[in-house]
Amino acid sequence: VKGIIGMNFGIIGSGAVGQTIGTKLIELGHPVKIGSRDPAKLQEWQNKGGSGASTGSFAEAAEFGEIIFNCTLGTGAIEAVTLAGEANLNGKILVDTSNPLDFSKGFPPSLTVCNTDSLGEQIQRIFPNVRLVKALNTMTANLMVDPALVPGDHDAFICGNDATAKETVKQILEQFGWKSIIDLGDISAARTTEMLMPFWLRLYGAFQSPIFNYKIVR
Ligand SMILES: NC(=O)c1ccc[n+]([C@@H]2O[C@H](COP(=O)([O-])OP(=O)(O)OC[C@H]3O[C@@H](n4cnc5c(N)ncnc54)[C@H](OP(=O)(O)O)[C@@H]3O)[C@@H](O)[C@H]2O)c1
Repeated sequence: VKGIIGMNFGIIGSGAVGQTIGTKLIELGHPVKIGSRDPAKLQEWQNKGGSGASTGSFAEAAEFGEIIFNCTLGTGAIEAVTLAGEANLNGKILVDTSNPLDFSKGFPPSLTVCNTDSLGEQIQRIFPNVRLVKALNTMTANLMVDPALVPGDHDAFICGNDATAKETVKQILEQFGWKSIIDLGDISAARTTEMLMPFWLRLYGAFQSPIFNYKIVR
């Protein structure tokens, strides 16, 4: 497994997830470029991030990254990765944090794809040479990079078709502080973690807080 020390990271997506992961990667010493259709809105993030932080288009962020995160709205994710460009993604690890939530009919959202397919698989099909790993989509943004926000042992899930890519993503998650990372298998397992979202939203409603996580007891 190639080490990730000092690797450049590209982040497609300027929301809470993209900015939170971007800040954490910079704290860990990695140069990070976040992409947006409107990079001007990332000025404050860039100022706080210092010399390791930069911004650009989705394509510029993907080109910059040796490892890339997709942190875009589920209903915009295909458009966003298409804008990022196949040539800038091919052969690279793409960590997909997105969820296929459809808010067009209000709350609670439904899923744009489920059961027999997933957003993760849709992206993998468009870019067969991208080493897609679905990860971190089952928890709130702050918890992704700071698992200690929830006490005790609890789990992060990964899946994808490329075993070496999953090993690398495991290393990144370990740098984020994750101790239990469960590999669910190939990318079709993205169906299962994406389908946790309706359950996650119910729990959020019940707890009135997003600071909780799943713990699989064996
Ligand atoms: N927020 C959380 O705590 C959390 C937790 C787990 C998983 N997730 C998932 O992670 C993803 C990111 O969530 P988020 O809350 O950080 O932000 P978000 O508001 O869901 O997504 C923001 C990003 O999506 C891009 N985008 C929206 N519509 C687009 C379109 N039509 N074409 C291209 N790009 C489009 C935006 O582009 P611009 O930069 O150009 O505006 C922006 O970069 C989502 O799929 C979400 O379900 C979120």
